[in-house]
Amino acid sequence: MAKEKLKVKEELLEPSVNIDAHTSEEDYNKIKKELYRFADPNYLDHSSDKNKVLKVRNLSVGFLTHGKKINVIRNISLDVIKGETLAIVGESGSGKSVFTKTFTGMLEDNGFISSGEILFRNPKTNEFDDISKYKSNKDWQKIRGRRIATIFQDPMTSLNPLLTIGFQIAEVLQIHHGFNKKDAKEEAIKILERVQIPDARNRYNDYPYQYSGGMRQRVVIAIALACRPEILICDEPTTALDVTVQSQILQLIKDLQKEFGWTTIFITHDLGVVANVADRVAVMYGGQVVEYGTCDEVFYNPAHPYTWALLQSLPQLGSKEEPLHHIKGNPPTFLNEIVGEAFAPRNEFAMNIDFIIDPPMFKISDTHFAKTWILDPRAPKVKKPKVIRELKKRMEIASEELKREVNTE
Ligand SMILES: Nc1ncnc2c1ncn2[C@@H]1O[C@H](COP(=O)(O)OP(=O)(O)O)[C@@H](O)[C@H]1O
Ligand SMILES: [Mg+2]
Repeated sequence: MAKEKLKVKEELLEPSVNIDAHTSEEDYNKIKKELYRFADPNYLDHSSDKNKVLKVRNLSVGFLTHGKKINVIRNISLDVIKGETLAIVGESGSGKSVFTKTFTGMLEDNGFISSGEILFRNPKTNEFDDISKYKSNKDWQKIRGRRIATIFQDPMTSLNPLLTIGFQIAEVLQIHHGFNKKDAKEEAIKILERVQIPDARNRYNDYPYQYSGGMRQRVVIAIALACRPEILICDEPTTALDVTVQSQILQLIKDLQKEFGWTTIFITHDLGVVANVADRVAVMYGGQVVEYGTCDEVFYNPAHPYTWALLQSLPQLGSKEEPLHHIKGNPPTFLNEIVGEAFAPRNEFAMNIDFIIDPPMFKISDTHFAKTWILDPRAPKVKKPKVIRELKKRMEIASEELKREVNTE
């Protein structure tokens, strides 16, 4: 490659970058470094670890499928703040489950962490242990269920159909907290009452199939409660439930969190539920976190076109005059290496650069970052879609309408 081609011009983001299949790695890295100069490599708050319970650093996860290595989680860095609820949102297939499964060593056998760290605070020493290096089941048993518990969408994956509901909760109390059999039963009944299982004492001896879907999900929450974890991961816990049961379960998780003070990681493809549950939001796309901020920042000052697209498709914003926006195309499958910005092929705001080089994280505030070239000062100014600019007002109107509907019913 000729030398002058390497010069990075200010207007570079507009036309095109001189990178093609013949570009050497060395040249590529030089160009990338120059392009990344307005980004903040230290975008996470490194000044204080006091309020953090989990720090993920440059985490990448791959799978071996059909003799080929695919990269599914691509260099995620994130902080989880103690006592808060972090929502992880994104369409199905964006890597939400794979990402959080690494926190409890639950990747399938063909999955592996290819780089990075998962630093989990030890409350006794206040030091962070890198649990990404854990290999043996013995190591993970100290974490999984005990310190980080997970509730999945399908409660049957967490419940044993052959054992009674009561036994499954009492067992946790006996194994993890040294209860004797009799005390474990009494405590288990209390916990069942706490998750609002009616007639808990009598239903203690029921089997999972005798409970409704919503009640089974309450039992899974009860088991998690019995573990008294430091972090509770809720992986789409209400997706399979109808809307009323969904909001009851969400409220229950929220109430219990207030009472027990754990940290929640709430995974959902439905941005609509997030506004009511989350303190912070991480938006995932193509195995990366593309935007991260407080709930207000992500809802009312979103920066990434993918976040815009998600927000525009919120069902509560639909009106008779305007059809609901839906995101065209499909998320990447990871079967081929993703070049450039993963959302570019579906992004109406994509620039040439998006198809060539993956953007870095840009800092918007101390708590808000997004991974889009739009935030580079060299990029042309982009006007956010109208719905996004008016989102606050629209959300208020939507909730007023809902209230009115409820009142007139
Ligand atoms: N064991 C596996 N082997 C190969 N690919 C996998 C495996 N598990 C998950 N994946 C792939 O990882 C991607 C992300 O999956 P997942 O984390 O389940 O998405 P989400 O939870 O956001 O819906 C998907 O494309 C999925 O096909
Ligand atoms: Mg999932």
